[in-house]
Amino acid sequence: ANRKFIVGNWKMNGLRSALGDIGGIAKIAEQNSGVDVAICPPATLIASAAAEFPDVAIGAQDCHQASSGAHTGCLSSDMIKEAGASLSILGHSERRADQHETDADVKAKAEAVRSAGLGAIICVGETEEERDAGSAVSVVCGQLSGSFPEGADGDWLTIAYEPVWAIGTGRVPEASDVEEMHAAIRSKLGELMADGSENVRILYGGSMNGGNAAELLAVPNVDGGLVGGASLSAEKFGPIIEAA
Ligand code: 13P
Repeated sequence: ANRKFIVGNWKMNGLRSALGDIGGIAKIAEQNSGVDVAICPPATLIASAAAEFPDVAIGAQDCHQASSGAHTGCLSSDMIKEAGASLSILGHSERRADQHETDADVKAKAEAVRSAGLGAIICVGETEEERDAGSAVSVVCGQLSGSFPEGADGDWLTIAYEPVWAIGTGRVPEASDVEEMHAAIRSKLGELMADGSENVRILYGGSMNGGNAAELLAVPNVDGGLVGGASLSAEKFGPIIEAA
């Protein structure tokens, strides 16, 4: 089995005053050395978090596919790396919806972070309409194929399955539905990769918290969690790290 990977996605939350929370999380991560932990704060906090807390991995929440140029407001992989990020979340459903990111964009972004030597967490997940229509597995496998980078390897690539309807809603899929989807993703990875597909970690994300983490993390092919709201403080995030 893969080492568990617990990642906090702070989204658009956190001023400098929140650095203490990253410190608290770093301490819990240190005490749970059998688990890999990363925090993805807003880009404005990456440099100070990485400098103050070198023992916990700090990630970005997005990265532009180009290495430089006329892309106002965007950050390149070298920029987030220089700031201290060791990985980036890519293709989160909020960015696919709000910034109209396509599978092709996400693939190019993953290849860009890889060439800078960083890790990538590619997010996939169906909407409620798609699940109700019975197309969840085909939608997610389609996103995975379309977003899948060249040279994929479990050393740097992680997949996060996040059903859109479970994000920030307090609704979590049945364990059997998570199991079915993660098995489908695992089998798709086997088709997409010549070898090593077993080593690509597949995280679950969507309303994970201290109360449901143990059950979700015990599902076959669930190699960790991508956590939003419950990653914002050590009090809430700590129990998830401990459950892994
Ligand atoms: P919540 O944990 O707040 O539901 O968010 C999940 C998520 O989108 C993590 O990327």
